[in-house]
Amino acid sequence: MTGIDVDQRKCDGLNRGESDIPDVTDCAVADLTEAGRLTSVTHLDAAGPLDTVIICVPTPLSKTRDPDLSHLLAAARSLTKHLRPGMLVILESTTYPGTTEEVVRGILEETGLRAGSDFFLAFSPERVDPGNTKWTIENVPKVVGGLTDDCSRLAARLYAAAIDRVVTVSSPRAAEMVKLLENTFRAINIGLVNELALMSERMGVDVWEVIEAAATKPFGYMPFYPGPGVGGHCIPVDPYYLSWKVGQVGLEARFIELAGQVNGAMPYHVVDKITDALNSHAKAINGSDVFVMGVAYKADVDDIRESPALEVIGLLLRKGARVSYHDPFVPVIVADPRTGGMPLNSSEYDLDAVAEFDCVVVLTDHSAIDYADLADRAKLVVDTRNAVKVYAPHVFKLGAPNV
Ligand SMILES: NC(=O)c1ccc[n+]([C@@H]2O[C@H](COP(=O)([O-])OP(=O)(O)OC[C@H]3O[C@@H](n4cnc5c(N)ncnc54)[C@H](O)[C@@H]3O)[C@@H](O)[C@H]2O)c1
Repeated sequence: MTGIDVDQRKCDGLNRGESDIPDVTDCAVADLTEAGRLTSVTHLDAAGPLDTVIICVPTPLSKTRDPDLSHLLAAARSLTKHLRPGMLVILESTTYPGTTEEVVRGILEETGLRAGSDFFLAFSPERVDPGNTKWTIENVPKVVGGLTDDCSRLAARLYAAAIDRVVTVSSPRAAEMVKLLENTFRAINIGLVNELALMSERMGVDVWEVIEAAATKPFGYMPFYPGPGVGGHCIPVDPYYLSWKVGQVGLEARFIELAGQVNGAMPYHVVDKITDALNSHAKAINGSDVFVMGVAYKADVDDIRESPALEVIGLLLRKGARVSYHDPFVPVIVADPRTGGMPLNSSEYDLDAVAEFDCVVVLTDHSAIDYADLADRAKLVVDTRNAVKVYAPHVFKLGAPNV
């Protein structure tokens, strides 16, 4: 197995037996490298002959929220020199329906080799849930869509060697759409529950109580939870790949846009909530000391890509707050550069020190923290995750009326 990554630092680390993904242990990587079963190189030229190439490069959005396929184009172009008859090429990067057939196939066929007859081509979405110990690579079914039946069969056989169940769909574009359905479903449901949280605050209802009770329904419902916004490189990004593509066929992805507006407004609502909390102690944001608990986009991961915490902190800094944060997984952040945010280092979590802050804001509910202790000591708490189970006048909860 050869890992190909343009990042020399990543390759060096892997070759030393070090994992750069929290869910994968150093031990697992070292076992492979020591046995000579995994070598990482920065260019395909150094990889030697390959039977299968899986492309899993980033697919972010541009500044105008359009798909940025630059990494994918570069990866596909670098492959043309090495494409040979019988090779299997699988795209795993999340992207809009049609990318494998229109973009990747087009580039690879510039070699004169034909997809489906000379080489095999398929799409198979990644379905990793970072931090999830129950659903792992092995037991999460893998969806595969090949350009031809043979392409699907070959790709399915490859994954079946390592994954319990492989689900084949009729085409790469169907497989691409599967991934976008899954993540759009999440983005929209989070948008719905975020809006419900705002409604609940106004109507004197506790949204957390409502969600917990609704979740007892054994059919037709699954719980989603409100929060300070959506983060990670999937939920805030992937639905826009779909809305961009349907725009080209004259349709508007209205649910996606609406969920994006609701979710995108949450950091601003959190700052309003902090303003209210400080106001209850006759204080303004300007000049207050605010301590943020957790900046990763979700609990127990180290990923800050698209994390709403960066936006909340940026807004607080812009309004004149003095912000410190603690995150056991994230040693340093640069808050939203539009706000002039400076790099911030994670502070030690010391309850005596935290008790001195004007307000503590829970943005990510990492499981290592005792939130009851925190609520006991802090002067004011704004809790966006229902981490603090205590209801008290000094605890302001997203989606719930103040006591
Ligand atoms: N990580 C996940 O949990 C997850 C889950 C579902 C889908 N995805 C999708 O998988 C894709 C990759 O995501 P990720 O989180 O692994 O991204 P990442 O940024 O962590 O890793 C991608 C790697 O690709 C390398 N790279 C960029 N251009 C390259 C090139 N031309 N040749 C070789 N290497 C190159 C980068 O250096 C980087 O190390 C994205 O489309 C993402 O949406 C990821």
